[in-house]
Amino acid sequence: MNRVLVTGSVGQIGSELTMFLRDRYGNENVVAGGRKTKPSEELKNSGPFEVVDCTDIEAIRRVIEKYKIDTIYHLAALLSAVAEGNPQLAWNVNINGLINVLEVAREYNCAVFTPSSIGAFGLTTPLDNTPQDTIQRPGTMYGVTKVSGELLCDYYYQKYGVDTRGVRYPGIISYVTPPGGGTTDYAVEIFYDAIRKGKYTCFLKKGTKLDMMYMPDALKAAVDLMEAEAGSLKHRNAFNVSAMSFAPEDIEAEVKKIIPDFTMDYDVDPLWQSIAESWPNYMDDSAAKEEWGWKPKYDLPAMSKDMIEKLRIKLGM
Ligand code: SER
Repeated sequence: MNRVLVTGSVGQIGSELTMFLRDRYGNENVVAGGRKTKPSEELKNSGPFEVVDCTDIEAIRRVIEKYKIDTIYHLAALLSAVAEGNPQLAWNVNINGLINVLEVAREYNCAVFTPSSIGAFGLTTPLDNTPQDTIQRPGTMYGVTKVSGELLCDYYYQKYGVDTRGVRYPGIISYVTPPGGGTTDYAVEIFYDAIRKGKYTCFLKKGTKLDMMYMPDALKAAVDLMEAEAGSLKHRNAFNVSAMSFAPEDIEAEVKKIIPDFTMDYDVDPLWQSIAESWPNYMDDSAAKEEWGWKPKYDLPAMSKDMIEKLRIKLGM
């Protein structure tokens, strides 16, 4: 049976993943773990919520024992731009937090899902059709923690047999919980501003292509990989996964199709721009397709249509 802990359950992916897993495995079987930020009423009222700071190994252990957890979705992490603002904190949360989770998983025989990211690549990586196995020399602390995390997860599988699995997520687009301080956040902000103000100022330059994915596909990727037959996996951690790749002007055009008066201008942020330029334009995700049947549902037009429909309802506009 699946008895699950989600760390970072109050964050952008964690908040929706927790509800998705509760639907699938039963509310009582999915514990939402969060740190300081308040959980939504939905998250708190639909199943167990526990305060878990992943830098505190005892706190993780207590929850694993109390609920007899067998699977951990470890979503607690700092995103790229925030990590650049406080690299030491990013190391502590993203790496010391991860090794705590892996240690507890080793002790209690849990499977672990850990997201890596397009941020695990850098300027020396081939940025077009980025291969599954390639050069990874990221120039950000976020990227350093993501590559280290990929290696740690491989190590815990090889050395201790912990069932570690993971994907390299691209920018994730969603309408429930806003992302916090990522380089790809513009692709979420644009929808809020298009609906509220009819205009958006983009912090990335025209022509900056990045991989992206709509939340329903991101949730499906995590669960499909965790439920895949172990024998079919040649890679375990850090599968490239993508659903679409676009530059700011491409999403602008898509939003305009639905909101014709929408306008966009640019005020480029050098930090975000330099990070984005060191990440892939688009990744080759054929290993995920071959090994566990990865198949996204939403492309740019389908995602934009659904985002605008759902956000209009959420914002009452
Ligand atoms: N969305 C993330 C970020 O921009 C990428 O993994 O930091």
